[in-house]
Amino acid sequence: MFVCSCFGVTDRQVREHQEAGARTPRQIASVSKAGTDCGSCVRRIQGLLGRGACPGRQPAATAAAGAVEEPASAPSVAEAA
Ligand code: FES
Repeated sequence: MFVCSCFGVTDRQVREHQEAGARTPRQIASVSKAGTDCGSCVRRIQGLLGRGACPGRQPAATAAAGAVEEPASAPSVAEAA
């Protein structure tokens, strides 16, 4: 069954990439391009990979922390000016 119709990637191919070491949709994309066009297949790929394959959970939290820290650095920029 096709998982990614844009690139003709099947669930079997995703499983093969997973067995070869791919753990995230991004890693699947890097070896097969699946998910790099319309993106509608990314959730299906996540489903095939199982839990822990959610992309960007950790970086999103880090980015949010960075956004919180940014205003704290703003006064120092204002002080410098
Ligand atoms: S269906 Fe996979 S990128 Fe479009």
